[in-house]
Amino acid sequence: MKIENLVKIILLILAFTINKNAMAQSKYESQIDALLAKMTLEEKVGQMNQYNGFWDVTGPLPENGDASLKYEHLKKGWVGSMLNVHGVEQVRELQKLVVEESRLGIPLLFGFDVIHGYKVQAPIPLAESASWDLDAIQKSASIAADEASAVGLNWTFAPMVDISRDARWGRVMEGGGEDPFLGSKIAEARIKGFQGTDLSAPNTIAACAKHFAAYGFAEAGKDYNTVDIGTNTLYNMVLPPFKAAVNADVKTFMNAFNIINGVPATGNSMLLQTILKEKWNFNGFVVSDWDSIGELAAHGFATDLENAAQLAVNAGSDMDMQATAYIKHLTNLVKLGKVDEAKIDDAVKRILRVKFELGLFDDPFKYCNPEREKTSLNHKDHHQGVLEMAKKSIVLLKNENNLLPLSKQQKNIVVIGDLADDKNSPLGSWRLASDDNTAISVLEGFNAYSTDYTFVQGPKVFDDNSDFLHHVTINSTDKTGISEAVEAAKNAEIVVMVLGEHGFMSGEGRSRTKLDLPGLQPELLKAVYEVNKNIVLVLMNGRPLTLTWEDEHIPAIVEAWQLGSQSGNAIAQVVFGDYNPSGKLPMSFPRSVGQLPLYYNHYSTGRPDKKPIVFWTHYADEKNSPVYPFGHGLSYTTFEYNDLSVKVGDSDVVDVTVTVTNTGNVAGEEVIQLYLRDHVASVVRPVKELKGFKKIMLEPKNSETLTFTLSTEELGFYNQDYNLVVEPGQFTVMVGGCSTNGLTKSFKIK
Ligand code: NOJ
Repeated sequence: MKIENLVKIILLILAFTINKNAMAQSKYESQIDALLAKMTLEEKVGQMNQYNGFWDVTGPLPENGDASLKYEHLKKGWVGSMLNVHGVEQVRELQKLVVEESRLGIPLLFGFDVIHGYKVQAPIPLAESASWDLDAIQKSASIAADEASAVGLNWTFAPMVDISRDARWGRVMEGGGEDPFLGSKIAEARIKGFQGTDLSAPNTIAACAKHFAAYGFAEAGKDYNTVDIGTNTLYNMVLPPFKAAVNADVKTFMNAFNIINGVPATGNSMLLQTILKEKWNFNGFVVSDWDSIGELAAHGFATDLENAAQLAVNAGSDMDMQATAYIKHLTNLVKLGKVDEAKIDDAVKRILRVKFELGLFDDPFKYCNPEREKTSLNHKDHHQGVLEMAKKSIVLLKNENNLLPLSKQQKNIVVIGDLADDKNSPLGSWRLASDDNTAISVLEGFNAYSTDYTFVQGPKVFDDNSDFLHHVTINSTDKTGISEAVEAAKNAEIVVMVLGEHGFMSGEGRSRTKLDLPGLQPELLKAVYEVNKNIVLVLMNGRPLTLTWEDEHIPAIVEAWQLGSQSGNAIAQVVFGDYNPSGKLPMSFPRSVGQLPLYYNHYSTGRPDKKPIVFWTHYADEKNSPVYPFGHGLSYTTFEYNDLSVKVGDSDVVDVTVTVTNTGNVAGEEVIQLYLRDHVASVVRPVKELKGFKKIMLEPKNSETLTFTLSTEELGFYNQDYNLVVEPGQFTVMVGGCSTNGLTKSFKIK
């Protein structure tokens, strides 16, 4: 070997080692090592143990919910973190117990599902994703962090970055939708919002990228179900948002409940060790999901809880949420030689690192200021922030003959629908600390605009039993109310119908097999349509619905999701034209459940094109296309795209330029979307993939020329060996306001 080659190799190895160590280091390493050296094995294992609080649960109740045992363990320093303990008083009490009574006084982490707000609720995450507005999403997460940190919390189990293509899965409400590029940008924005630029500040908290990995690919959209995907999908669709989370310096990861290719994610060393900790150099820690270590036995992967502890820790799960597997068995497993103490040390160092970075060793009570708790919760700035977010989250799905916006002088409006005066449902699912019935309802929002409306409830569709789990019952039989609604609609100039899902019909454990408007709502809508076609349909839902009939008949449709505390104000501002909607769908809306999973970035198949006979990829009874595609969303103005040009530069950097003009009469925001097709590759590439977007505001008749720069990250894909590669060949770029149409140009990478 030539001497210069040898030198190159040595330099490369050195650079790799230095870089690897640099990633694993923080300024606290010597303090972490010193503390670790003082810890007994039991105390180390204790750091890896997380207990649920004594009053709230967000999973099946454990057999071993014995509060006095937990107190004993806290005092011994055998607990590293608590979940579902919140409020300054409660947090202070437990932190004091641990800091003052345990031998080493290592402060606790307090984790909670702050998913879209603590007290003040922002829109559900799927709705926020429809804004494609990263600054607004970041701001929304920072509001949540401000309130959460004011009640003693220092860790949120968010963001959920699971990609999902199946609207039957109730947890789509919690994520960024079906696309990995959009999902990655949103993951980053949320993490920046929660963690800020200084994790030790009193109003920032550690974030958690979950659920690692592929939980959103549960078969048939049934929560907790089996996942069976290939590496092409895993590497190119599922992992990118997690990778983006690591790049954004997320402090923690959470396991998923599911198996992947036969191996439960919680015991999956390929995912946790090889990819996350080695390839990505993640230096935070991995918490299990609720009892997911215990569930290794139910999966048939572990023989019992002890074996589950062994498999999970060896795979790289650092903290045990509520399964009690680690606290019961890890010490002994080390003594038996089944778990290497070095593995425990690594996990503990990761957990301590986050505690140091949060500044808990400087002041364990830094989040426990009762004054701040009072002033931060429900702060008017938080309400203002979530109102802005809510407006940006609304998607105008259809607007025939510009029925919307309604004039503020509009007379004789009839508002129909159970959800129109609902103050609870718009808060959505996953809002554990919010106060029930505190959302601004649609009617309250309308009050600020019009006194000339009548409200007719129609049939009562939803009954939220308001028990701990908010089981919703749906009326499908008692038609009382339909005729009254029809009578009122007959003489109305405009009918606004507020229909959709109840806020607790989506979320964890809330999968559906039907995605139409539940209960009597379709019948109500059709009956009203028979007497008055001037309908504005305002939808509230936590997932895509099958709106085929609605799209064919109803002239104006507004997707308002579950928009949180300020819901009604945001909806009213859009309906009466004080805010021009700019949201774009982050998930495809199917025509029928039979099409699921449905996603725009699908592969070509070998038989993509229509043939005169049946032998091509299609259904006999339904189109292939969705009702509303990914990226779809209208505005009260119109935009035109011109002058698409592509410049392929050196080192595979491609500049794509386009000019966008507001051709309508009002100012508006547009999300300019760039899609790419890599025509031939060593693993097949989707027919199109989002690889860039920008949101801009344009005054009427104004234009802006934008340039997107594409490099390896955008042009490449992960090959069979999980390497990011750009393969030479032909590409087509499409730029437009939706995934289904735009200007196109082809180019070659040599
Ligand atoms: C189970 C859920 O899957 C997870 O997302 C959540 O953070 C935990 N429960 C804790 O509540």
